[in-house]
Amino acid sequence: MIKTVGVIGAGTMGNGIAQVFAQSGFSVRLVDVAAPMLDRARGAIEKSLGKFVEKGKLTAADRDAAMELLSTTTAVDDLADADYVIEAIVENADAKCALFKRLDAITQPDVILASNTSSISITVLGAATTRPDKVLGMHFMNPVPLMTLVEMIRGQATSPDSMRIAFERSVRLGKTPVEAADYPGFIANRILMPMINEAIYAVMEGVGTPEAIDTVMKLGMNHPMGPLTLADFIGLDVCLAILNVLHDGLGDPKYRPCPLLRRMVAAGHLGRKSGRGFYAY
Ligand SMILES: NC(=O)c1ccc[n+]([C@@H]2O[C@H](COP(=O)([O-])OP(=O)(O)OC[C@H]3O[C@@H](n4cnc5c(N)ncnc54)[C@H](O)[C@@H]3O)[C@@H](O)[C@H]2O)c1
Repeated sequence: MIKTVGVIGAGTMGNGIAQVFAQSGFSVRLVDVAAPMLDRARGAIEKSLGKFVEKGKLTAADRDAAMELLSTTTAVDDLADADYVIEAIVENADAKCALFKRLDAITQPDVILASNTSSISITVLGAATTRPDKVLGMHFMNPVPLMTLVEMIRGQATSPDSMRIAFERSVRLGKTPVEAADYPGFIANRILMPMINEAIYAVMEGVGTPEAIDTVMKLGMNHPMGPLTLADFIGLDVCLAILNVLHDGLGDPKYRPCPLLRRMVAAGHLGRKSGRGFYAY
């Protein structure tokens, strides 16, 4: 029986994942190398739960209960007694492999180690452990408390039993799990990122302003938000990392990250989280 869930990485995604698990009655231990990120995450979770209360979707007692279930730490070793672990650290294969190796050493051997990666191979992460049958992808969407999809990635060695348990977890969180095979970018980013990248090329070539491009996609294609607004929301560094994985893994020049995207990331213009991207925040 899964009681304690470890979530590693308290950034955009990690805090949302921690929140939905706590809201579903799991005891959550949220880990980050940076203590300020943990304070920020706690504040973000409190604010998000507060909005649910305002909208009448959650009682104040439920909000308090969820906050009670949340604890934070900078020590990954505090996950030694976790029953289920989800990693949501930076989109970097070396950093994730090192973490999975560490998690494999400290957690009980039957514990599932899931990754929220947007694009990195689950099979490679599994190979960094002695339990590749228990390593899988659980790719939540941003913002996690509102988006119902979880893309479930089966690595080459992931067992059907691990997938079944993870599917059940997703449903318990009120999400809809959809399975994808372990290819770069899986389903969601294989299709989304080339569109975002093309929109950035269109800005670079002066085809249209960011506002014009977003308006065309919103009003013309009925998308709820334009691709550049969405890129700012995801984080331009995250978009670049995913495009690099698609380009390296699939080899097709159509996935080549736009030079303007590289330049914006180098300048620290990362979108919403840095206050500046295609728009100012
Ligand atoms: N941003 C999105 O919209 C989105 C959507 C789906 C999936 N993802 C994926 O989720 C993961 C996290 O993305 P994010 O946008 O939340 O990133 P982020 O940059 O907002 O947060 C990453 C956090 O991980 C922490 N961290 C880095 N290395 C660590 C380590 N070794 N141990 C513990 N903490 C560590 C950082 O301090 C930071 O707080 C990535 O794999 C990303 O591809 C992102």
